[in-house]
Amino acid sequence: MEKYEYYDVHTHFLPGMDLGCKDIKDAMQMVRRMVEQGCMGVIATPHFYSNETIESFLNRREESFMKLTEEIKESEISGFEKAICLGAEVGYHKSLIFEPQLKKLCLGRSDYILLELPFAKWGPEVLENVQKMMQVREVDIIIAHLERFFEYGNKKYINELLKMNVMIQMNTEHLLKFGAFRHALDMIKNKRVDILSTDCHGTFFYPPNMEQALAKMVKADLQTDIERMLENSYLVYNASMRAAQRI
Ligand SMILES: [Fe+2]
Repeated sequence: MEKYEYYDVHTHFLPGMDLGCKDIKDAMQMVRRMVEQGCMGVIATPHFYSNETIESFLNRREESFMKLTEEIKESEISGFEKAICLGAEVGYHKSLIFEPQLKKLCLGRSDYILLELPFAKWGPEVLENVQKMMQVREVDIIIAHLERFFEYGNKKYINELLKMNVMIQMNTEHLLKFGAFRHALDMIKNKRVDILSTDCHGTFFYPPNMEQALAKMVKADLQTDIERMLENSYLVYNASMRAAQRI
């Protein structure tokens, strides 16, 4: 199989920032795995929840990133630190509409917010608030791992969401997890997925596994969809990096 080069826009590998990647050793193993798999650039998206201030979150993120940068520079994959862009996976909260600093949580210096919706049955206010967030805060929204919200009886709202001007991201895990493949294929074939990302959290639990997910898609003859989704990831990554380099 042709080895794909890819960009990953949803990941958790900054040491000490997230569940899963607890220390610098873990983080380095994850980064090495990404490089082996063909990752050309990555956006680090640690979880942000609104019980923390944005300032505190950004300070913690910067500190963790500096630590990792030093370690990568000293290693055989030196240089890859320049391919890392900083972002966040923002946990949905209705108060975000009123948050004047929301743009500080965008991917790099782009206008993309990676938004994690509630793991619960939604009401109509969830979609209304997503819409308001885009209008009031002038951000573009990428919905993180849409596939994970079907099980809460949200099908009707998911269909509504798909008609909105948002991008949809799916986790590689959905293609690899036992019993989920058919659902993942349906979502992809119906063009309901714009971006495929690993949402990696560690070396064992949710590892960087883009290569395996792409191999499954190749077997299912989905090369066109692979190219479409990899291109979208590249565009999001590039927008995040290009804007960042302006400062
Ligand atoms: Fe995530």
